[in-house]
Amino acid sequence: MNTSHHPEQPSPNGQPNPNGAHPAEPHGLGSFPEPGGERRYAQIVGWGYHVPEKVITNRDLEQIVDTKDEWIRTRTGIEARHIAASPRETTATLGMKAARKALEVADIHPHQVDLIICATSSPEHIFPSTASIIQDGIGAVNAGAFDLSAACSGFVYGLAMARGQILAGDAEYVLVIGSETLSRIVDWTDRNTCVLFGDGAGAVLVAASDVPGGIMATELGSDGSGADLLTLPAGGSAIPASLETVSSGAHYIKMDGRAVFRFATRVMAEATRKVLDRAGVSVDDVDLIIPHQANIRIIQSSVVKQLRIPEDKVFINLQKYGNTSTASIPIALCEAIEAGKVQPGDNLVFVGFGAGLTWAAAAIKWSTPIEKPEATWWRNTQRQAAYQAAAARSMWKRAVRRVYSQVLAGREGE
Ligand code: COA
Repeated sequence: MNTSHHPEQPSPNGQPNPNGAHPAEPHGLGSFPEPGGERRYAQIVGWGYHVPEKVITNRDLEQIVDTKDEWIRTRTGIEARHIAASPRETTATLGMKAARKALEVADIHPHQVDLIICATSSPEHIFPSTASIIQDGIGAVNAGAFDLSAACSGFVYGLAMARGQILAGDAEYVLVIGSETLSRIVDWTDRNTCVLFGDGAGAVLVAASDVPGGIMATELGSDGSGADLLTLPAGGSAIPASLETVSSGAHYIKMDGRAVFRFATRVMAEATRKVLDRAGVSVDDVDLIIPHQANIRIIQSSVVKQLRIPEDKVFINLQKYGNTSTASIPIALCEAIEAGKVQPGDNLVFVGFGAGLTWAAAAIKWSTPIEKPEATWWRNTQRQAAYQAAAARSMWKRAVRRVYSQVLAGREGE
């Protein structure tokens, strides 16, 4: 079995890996030993994000609801958010753009992807999954696809699933996407929530590798007794859509902000401690924490104060995007890489919390060179051709199904 990231690529940390020899592993948590003694690791080898063009500032919000720029900045740290203003911008189209960028960075063809996990709180539909629509759109014809519902913790949950698939030997390449159009499920008359959220998508490609490192440990948690603290009440089987649910605004996000705040500050620190413990890394050895970008005060009172992690080791970009739920950590990862804050050998922690209630953390030994590899003209052309072929294939299959149904209906009518 080929356990290396793409054969035409250098190994994820750019180091030769002669004869599968590995340095001693103190914790052995990054890999499952295989029968032949070979070890597999789950490395992030591609990344990308996309946000809609339209920006809504706090001042713009002052025109819509009874709020003040000063209140939003001091209580949350948020200054602006991107909003999917065009009906053509949906959770799937944002996710597709982020996914294509991640494939480009990894220099991987969509046909090589084995699995697509789309974490989202604002899916295209209850079903089919947004992940399946993305799979069709990027021409990942060999991939399975599913949506993951763990609210804002979803992206880190997705990383844990990707790691499991890869370490079990069931997948070589897994796309993990966090994508949201929360602006479509926010009540723009409710100042308690509408100032907090934004739209966007981030994606990573996780690859099987024989290079030690990558996603070393994950910590997932849930406390469903807090289900009512942050919820979109109607539209599911508990409260099906009706005229009444629409008129009472039950299809919009409802939140008890203070209770969520208290929960978040507690679990962010706890989950970080646990995942570091599991990975055998001390808090002092962490190079960068990328927390869920919900509220600057939550980040300060959890990872900064409770764990005593210096602020320059905590990446924050929520001032530009607000809370983009599942997309917040992958977008922040991409921006941290762009800012030169992630280097091979670094110990990273991703940590998030959200509705459910849920929380999740991942400890990562970053091993991939951050310079974008020189994708050859030919491989770029191949990828573009695959995207165009995907669109044509999808239209063709739909047309054939329509004609087939009409022919069948005609025969039945005879
Ligand atoms: N503009 C102006 N005033 C606002 C406001 C807004 N957008 N939203 C709420 N207020 C008011 C409240 O009505 C309240 O007024 P009152 O004292 O007259 O009742 C006052 O501001 C203080 O409200 P409070 O809830 O104590 O504020 P807070 O400091 O807890 O901040 C949140 C509110 C929502 C920002 C904060 O609780 C929070 O971030 N919670 C976590 C939410 C979250 O992260 N959700 C996503 C999870 S993934």
